[in-house]
Amino acid sequence: MNSTDIDWSQLSFSYLPTDYNVRCTYKDGKWGEIEVSDSEYIPMHMAAVCLHYGQESFEGLKAFRGKDGKIRIFRMDENAKRFIRTAERMLMAPMPVDLFCEMVKKVVKLNERFVPPYGTGASLYIRPLEIGVSPKIGVSSATEFLVVMFVSPVGPYFKSGFKPMKVCITREYDRVAPKGTGSIKVGGNYGASLQAGEKAHELGYSNILYLDPKEKKYIDECGAANFYGIKNNTYVTPQSESILPSITNMSLQEIAKDMGLKIEKRNIPLEEISEFEEAGACGTAAVCSPIGQVDDLDTGKSYIIAPDNQPGPISTALYNAIRAIQYGEAPDTHNWCVILD
Ligand code: PLP
Ligand code: COI
Repeated sequence: MNSTDIDWSQLSFSYLPTDYNVRCTYKDGKWGEIEVSDSEYIPMHMAAVCLHYGQESFEGLKAFRGKDGKIRIFRMDENAKRFIRTAERMLMAPMPVDLFCEMVKKVVKLNERFVPPYGTGASLYIRPLEIGVSPKIGVSSATEFLVVMFVSPVGPYFKSGFKPMKVCITREYDRVAPKGTGSIKVGGNYGASLQAGEKAHELGYSNILYLDPKEKKYIDECGAANFYGIKNNTYVTPQSESILPSITNMSLQEIAKDMGLKIEKRNIPLEEISEFEEAGACGTAAVCSPIGQVDDLDTGKSYIIAPDNQPGPISTALYNAIRAIQYGEAPDTHNWCVILD
């Protein structure tokens, strides 16, 4: 792919090939050297544990071309820490934070020409993944692991962009189990959500707003993004052991605090949706996407949050503030961005 052929402002959230990816293998109890590859394929044994028993983890983070032309990578140390937490839960080798960050910087640098130009609204999505590659038949952990990091220039995750979206609630599917793997980033969670997501799309919804898998009483998360609601100058977001702790959500909470909002992390009963002045879904891919309507498919009840179908003022301010930091338009007072040399 030639980067000059890309219409940056028309990008969607989909895979585009770039020049290189980076790889690192854990073998005989230690990590090897970082290798650079121009192949989009991973040679693998057919009995590799990841293929049969889902010993896999992934991450997602972004690099941005700033107003000053410099490339900023957003909070990669937090992704590194979450990658370790996931690896530990999945009995995989945890990659040290420094090695993770070195690989991220290297894969961005090698594909610098694919970092979208400033002003296009696009960014470079970085996808690290770890897999157990040893051949096994019995259900047990691999001893050899491979970490691969590739990148792809991307536009908005939701087709509607920064416009309120419609989501639905269903009790027919759970994304994760109560004491399962919801709080870590493993492929199995996403595989389990494919059918539900497909059904929601067929019915015209952007996503599913999942309820907690134990009692089905509280809001959990919104597809591959965390949920927040705004009321009485307060940013309310779920406290749940079955959701992924979102780095974007953590950041929005800090920004909301800076803006003078109160923060509440607690159970959010489903019925409370009707009290929110604004709501949204937040994540690396989703950034901060307003939710305008929630339809409960089981009870037939509709919660209209944005009757005028416009993003609310606080969601707009949060979105603008996080984007301004990522694109180097506002001071990075929290030291979230690493500028690439
Ligand atoms: N929840 C789920 C299930 C996700 O897959 C993601 C994406 O990574 C998020 C939330 C948002 O997390 P983050 O802001 O760290 O990207
Ligand atoms: C992200 O926001 O980085 C995600 O991982 C979401 C999705 C593409 C899985």
